[in-house]
Amino acid sequence: MTEIVIRQMQEGDLPEADRIMRLAFGTFLGLPDPMSFSGDADYIGTRYRADPPAALVAEIDGKVAGSNFALHWGSVGVFGPLTVHPDFWDRGVARRLLEETMGIFAKWQVKHAGLFTFAQSSKHVHLYQKFGFWPRFLTSIMSKPVDRVMDANLVRYSELSAAEKEQAVEACKNLTGGIYGGLDLRKEIHSIDKQRLGDTILTYDGGSLAGFATCHCGAGTETSSGNCYVKFATALSGPGSAERFDGLLDACESFAHSQGLSHIIAGVNTARHGAYRNMIARKFRTDIQGIAMHRPNEPGYNREDVYLIDDWR
Ligand SMILES: CC(C)(COP(=O)(O)OP(=O)(O)OC[C@H]1O[C@@H](n2cnc3c(N)ncnc32)[C@H](O)[C@@H]1OP(=O)(O)O)[C@@H](O)C(=O)NCCC(=O)NCCS
Repeated sequence: MTEIVIRQMQEGDLPEADRIMRLAFGTFLGLPDPMSFSGDADYIGTRYRADPPAALVAEIDGKVAGSNFALHWGSVGVFGPLTVHPDFWDRGVARRLLEETMGIFAKWQVKHAGLFTFAQSSKHVHLYQKFGFWPRFLTSIMSKPVDRVMDANLVRYSELSAAEKEQAVEACKNLTGGIYGGLDLRKEIHSIDKQRLGDTILTYDGGSLAGFATCHCGAGTETSSGNCYVKFATALSGPGSAERFDGLLDACESFAHSQGLSHIIAGVNTARHGAYRNMIARKFRTDIQGIAMHRPNEPGYNREDVYLIDDWR
């Protein structure tokens, strides 16, 4: 078997890595035109630019054969999209990419790692279990039309001064740390700001941070035209968190409306039962559902009392 080489992604790899990502998912899902997968969204370029050393490619005979991305959320690590060109499936390419990805997690000293995958695919579950990830609860990727326009009291991160931005990131870190020790979304906040992918919305209660949401807006981001994708959002934990979560979702919807977007997309792990029920009550409907796999096999922040949106895709 030809040698599989794993190396850091370079800017010049982006077109081929993007092509393989679409072809791989489109083929797996049986789309009539596999390359139409994910439309005008951009996962590869945006994740590469967010953290180039955490973007990996697999090479066979000097050609890109697959890629994967690690996301560093403080004590939590997430990876994806992991894709391999269909010509090379079942030859251990994903295994090699994952070995290297686990090395990155070890270097970051993450306490909890997770991924989102196809619950019906025994291949996917088998592959990840070999690396110590175990299936737990379903994650629902939901959406709803933007139709509630209220006067939400929100602050946009992009409009803050440099000093205020630093304070806001610190406050977000304290808020997430109260949910799961060391959980820190600063890289997502910075990436959205630097790449102008959307904005981070902050809500306040009596002067202190009540919640925040990292939102991708429209084409060329992790969502496509017309959508506001809430990649991560959470409300301060403790008494009143359900109400704060409600306020945060109002703020997201009001922000989406201000950007001229027609739909809001947000994923929630069903172990966060309160958050899941709240979203159903707000008329979010599930478009895609998959399984969250955790390493180690512990809840992490996927708990009943946690009012948080993310989907680990
Ligand atoms: C999922 C994907 C990344 C796997 O890549 P790959 O290079 O084919 O994976 P590997 O060859 O390293 O490993 C596949 C493993 O699954 C096993 N496998 C294959 N078919 C299987 C099945 N039906 N049931 C159980 N195990 C299966 C293989 O035997 C191998 O395990 P082994 O090494 O213990 O023998 C690739 O198929 C892909 O790009 N799919 C489309 C995109 C996608 O779904 N990405 C992942 C999203 S979470």
